[in-house]
Amino acid sequence: MASQIGPIARAIEDVRTVQRRDPAAPAWWVIAGSYQGVHAVWYHRVAHWLWGRGFRSYARLMSQYARRVTGIEIHPGAQLGRRVFIDHGSGVVIGETAVVGDDVLMFNGINLGGTTMSPGKRHPTIGDRVVIGAGAKVLGPLRVGPDARIGANAVVVKDVPDGATAVGIPAVIRNHPGPTEASTAASAVDSGDSHRHPDPDAPPEPIREPAMYYI
Ligand SMILES: CC(C)(COP(=O)(O)OP(=O)(O)OC[C@H]1O[C@@H](n2cnc3c(N)ncnc32)[C@H](O)[C@@H]1OP(=O)(O)O)[C@@H](O)C(=O)NCCC(=O)NCCS
Repeated sequence: MASQIGPIARAIEDVRTVQRRDPAAPAWWVIAGSYQGVHAVWYHRVAHWLWGRGFRSYARLMSQYARRVTGIEIHPGAQLGRRVFIDHGSGVVIGETAVVGDDVLMFNGINLGGTTMSPGKRHPTIGDRVVIGAGAKVLGPLRVGPDARIGANAVVVKDVPDGATAVGIPAVIRNHPGPTEASTAASAVDSGDSHRHPDPDAPPEPIREPAMYYI
């Protein structure tokens, strides 16, 4: 979740993420000019910046404008990690208290939503490298562990363990590999705490792809 690079470098990183993860990716300038999932993340970055500095009305206006032009609604209070890629995008809704880790891949029609009207933490926390299939709904202040996979159209209402695959309505865990198996399946699952605070002096870690790309 670190944000150690400037906005231009992050935008370039976003485009490179699409080039790496979308087998149908066109030229970089087509991605930058037309991918609604990329644009939604960019709009959100500005809205989140405004939100964090107390300009909440402007932040909401920005996020609603983004929804109108991209079909993707991300509340300005939501926290998104680096290299998050929303593929296709239309119909995605991400709530105010959602936290999305680094290298998360989402498809169209997903909802990181709440189940209560009460303020406070009411949306999910999604770990690094999670893949969320098209149409999935992840509801409530639950935790989806790093490297987990949520099947298309699943409705997730309970925590998902690290590296597990959750499918169906309500979602059930189809397999729950141990750490060694998970490392094999994902090729490079973080063996430590994926949500640790990064050491600013440490050399940059290699980017790890979501597990879906190793199956
Ligand atoms: C969840 C997912 C990652 C599982 O992939 P996998 O590990 O290869 O798993 P398998 O295909 O071997 O399926 C394992 C079991 O889960 C079931 N299953 C898989 N995906 C499912 C889904 N979305 N909903 C319900 N059941 C599902 C399979 O039928 C199988 O059941 P079985 O063991 O009784 O035969 C994948 O099926 C999926 O849904 N990916 C999302 C893809 C997507 O959204 N693409 C959009 C592109 S625009």
